[in-house]
Amino acid sequence: MKVLLIGSGGREHAIAWKLAQSPGVSELIIAPGNAGTAELGENVAVAVDDFDGMLELARLRDIDLAIVAPDQPIVDGLCNRFTDVGIKVFGPSAAAARIEGSKVWSDDLMAKYGVPTAESLAFTESRLAIEYGRSRTEGSLVVKADGLAAGKGVLIPETYDDLDAAIVGMLDHAAFGSSSARILLAERLTGPEVSVFAFVDGEFVSSEIATCDYKRVGDADVGLNTGGMGAYGPPEFWTEELAGRVREVILEPVAKALVSENSSFSGMLYAGLMITAEGPKVIEFNCRFGDPETQILMPMLKTDLLDICLAVAEGRLSEQAVEWSDIPHTFVVMVSEGYPGSFETGKIITGVDEASEHGLVIHAGTTRNESGELFTSGGRVLGVAGSGESIRAARDSAYAGVERISFEGARYRHDIAARAVKG
Ligand code: AMP
Ligand code: GLY
Repeated sequence: MKVLLIGSGGREHAIAWKLAQSPGVSELIIAPGNAGTAELGENVAVAVDDFDGMLELARLRDIDLAIVAPDQPIVDGLCNRFTDVGIKVFGPSAAAARIEGSKVWSDDLMAKYGVPTAESLAFTESRLAIEYGRSRTEGSLVVKADGLAAGKGVLIPETYDDLDAAIVGMLDHAAFGSSSARILLAERLTGPEVSVFAFVDGEFVSSEIATCDYKRVGDADVGLNTGGMGAYGPPEFWTEELAGRVREVILEPVAKALVSENSSFSGMLYAGLMITAEGPKVIEFNCRFGDPETQILMPMLKTDLLDICLAVAEGRLSEQAVEWSDIPHTFVVMVSEGYPGSFETGKIITGVDEASEHGLVIHAGTTRNESGELFTSGGRVLGVAGSGESIRAARDSAYAGVERISFEGARYRHDIAARAVKG
């Protein structure tokens, strides 16, 4: 079977790594891919926003299954384009992707179907939003841009002045372009955060898996939000009881709600949750695999990924096994100096082979020159996934790998999974 995987980050390298192990995959094309995916299949330089180019590529190469990994093309309807021309696709329609693409739509859906989430109100006028904000306790609200904002669209102001500034920045000064033309003011929740993933096909929800990711750039969660600095799983606070509750009150009701709203979901559903004193509540839904969580989800997936993706694409997931391992995993991301602000690229990378003796090296922003030397080409450069009998062993392997890799200005967090290590 010929498979086209769309995207170019660490998530896509991890998915390609898993697909390359499927006996059913005869040809794997990654568009546009990175230096890591190039070792597993054929990279083709079509940009993820070039929908005509992607369809042309799929037609020319006689693709049997397209897998769309990044959020933006899904929200913009790339999966619909494949479906429209009769090419099987793993990934939801634009209608179903509103669960990620519009926080206001998603919030309305949760309110209508009783899915637990933060109480929130939508605003388009800063005056009204400020008035509402001032009527609530100082520091008790978060400000969320309605649309996609590369993981940076949530602000958590401590004071009224900062809240006003966040509102004005988003609504009046388009801090996130058209994505912040509408905002939500949501109750600020507290508790451990967890990313829960399940394959969804209409009302059917596969077995789920939970991981934790790290968004801030610095140790101890200081500094700016990033695309993700690391992940680990299973979380130390995750129990069967909690998993059962999350399925019962969040995953299954939302899959049903989407079907009822004529927006049936097909693909990977990612629920970002906070485990509050009142139980699990939704912070956000995403309509795709998480990054960097997928860099451990793929090593933790025991079932053939092609079989699952095909079953989802063909609407028969309920007949397909989905089995996850509970072996502890840790993934640590290495980034360029300056990231998530401005950074330089083109730094030579060494030590990847040595690192591979300790864990799975996953590329994100990497490229090779003609003589095969590896260079940095992005903010998040690469990372190492370690596994072991305990989370401590998994973490030690990941860091042993990271310590073997060098490039000028390399940075990484030192505390990924540290809180999960006992004693
Ligand atoms: P999101 O882009 O929705 O994942 O939000 C980014 C981050 O903002 C989350 O990982 C949380 O840490 C934080 N956040 C979002 N919503 C809330 C909320 N209602 N209360 C507290 N923190 C939140
Ligand atoms: N792990 C955050 C994201 O994928 O959005």
